[in-house]
Amino acid sequence: MITERERWTSRIGLILAMAGNAVGLGNFLRFPVQAAQNGGGAFMIPYFIAFFLLAIPLMWVEWSIGRHGGKFGHGSMPGMLDSMWKSPIAKYLGVLGLWVSTIVMIYYTYIESWTLGFAYFSLTGEYFGMDNLTNMESFLKSYQGAGEGYFSSILTAYIFLLITIAANLFILYKGISKGIEWFAKFAMPTLIFFGIVLLIYVFTVGVPDPINFPDRSVWNGFAFIWNPDFSLLSDSKIWLAASGQVFFTLSVGMGTLHAYASYLRESDDLALSGLSTASINEFVEVILGGSIAIPIAVAFFGLTTATAIAMGGSFNLGFVSMSVIFQQIPFGSLIGFLWFFLLFFAGITSSVAMAQPVISFLKEQFKFSQKKAVTFVGIGLFVCIHFVIFFLKFGFLDEMDYWAGTFALVAVALIEVVVFAWIYGMDKGWAELTKGSDIKVPRFFYYIIKYVTPTYLIGIMAFWTWDSAIPTLMMKGVPAENVPYLWGARLMMLTIFGLLVFMVYRGWKMNDHKYEHFNDNIKAKK
Ligand code: ALA
Repeated sequence: MITERERWTSRIGLILAMAGNAVGLGNFLRFPVQAAQNGGGAFMIPYFIAFFLLAIPLMWVEWSIGRHGGKFGHGSMPGMLDSMWKSPIAKYLGVLGLWVSTIVMIYYTYIESWTLGFAYFSLTGEYFGMDNLTNMESFLKSYQGAGEGYFSSILTAYIFLLITIAANLFILYKGISKGIEWFAKFAMPTLIFFGIVLLIYVFTVGVPDPINFPDRSVWNGFAFIWNPDFSLLSDSKIWLAASGQVFFTLSVGMGTLHAYASYLRESDDLALSGLSTASINEFVEVILGGSIAIPIAVAFFGLTTATAIAMGGSFNLGFVSMSVIFQQIPFGSLIGFLWFFLLFFAGITSSVAMAQPVISFLKEQFKFSQKKAVTFVGIGLFVCIHFVIFFLKFGFLDEMDYWAGTFALVAVALIEVVVFAWIYGMDKGWAELTKGSDIKVPRFFYYIIKYVTPTYLIGIMAFWTWDSAIPTLMMKGVPAENVPYLWGARLMMLTIFGLLVFMVYRGWKMNDHKYEHFNDNIKAKK
């Protein structure tokens, strides 16, 4: 029996929730770091190419797979792929999608909690006095429990983590429309408003010493992002980094867009809504995200130091250099609060999306109530996050981010596009995508989805495997003391994968999903 599913209550609510799913820490923390590490303007060219050839088609594919799966009562990838491909392995391939969102949620929630902590510290002036990059970096490290210094224990970070987890669970307990949609309607406009205020601030802020350092200006920061050095384009690393960023920022390959799309009605438009959410994400990433951390760092430290900061670590631009700058500008405390609270809202609207596939899965396969499913996820998150906290300095988080947050996204995308275009069939897929559509999807996307996207993905997978997956797997260049912890991270990720496979196995034993396998035939016979 297919029970009636929850639904989004309004189009604007759906679009804001989906945009909240996509807009996240990736837009404000990851994007500037990736751009700075990969040549600034030169990075933007493969970035936009990947956006048009990978992200837009894949996003439509994911919305289509999600809405189609929802019709059969599935809110996560195992059931969705199973209802498109009459093979016993389809649901196990779908486990990868469920796994990605679960793993990313674990480390992402911890990072999200730092932003809440730093929003509070900005208001109280806790880090004021750490007025150079070295001091501020040790403040951050000691907060994270990854170094000695300002904080005597991890307790402060732990308190903000507990508040963050509680906030996530509160939204999730309330469900799709009363929780996620309700929150997104408030959080997304607030986030965009804060972003615009910060953008205007960056444009108008004075630089500390224009006489001695005439090259230190916001404009030189923009020039770095928008003037491509074409000679860098022959470097395959830049192409890989750009594709990776496009995946992460749009939440493509994570299983979360599918989950949200499963709460659409069969006749609801997805082409225009999908395009709208991708456009909101790109506005927030390229216009807002691209105009804050890099330009202001170039204005205060110069281009060479700003890129060196980005090279030094994923969180140095967003946490370290920004916090040093907040101490030197008018209204720094308030501006710092706006920045970190914006990050918190960006993070939480994404982390609830990462929890949703597994919550839907538990409800659908094991008939858990909403509360029980959320409690189950909350306990799992709470247990696993401790490994990330205590082993952070040994590279535990980075290991998870590499396999789940980078490599597996491409693998999931490749699987789903092949199932959609080649197994389910591109004609049926195209009919699904355009059903109820409020725009006419250009026909050339039919061919892009069928040929270009899969080929592009195979190319990326092959390059990536050779260039980084094999060296990462062999732990090349990893300090000896980190090796056991990275094995620990792998063990945890594999255990979660095994558990999900087992749950899918049990779920399919307990439920009769045959109606899906024959559904198309039944329809055809009518
Ligand atoms: N898309 C989310 C982000 O950018 C995961 O943070």
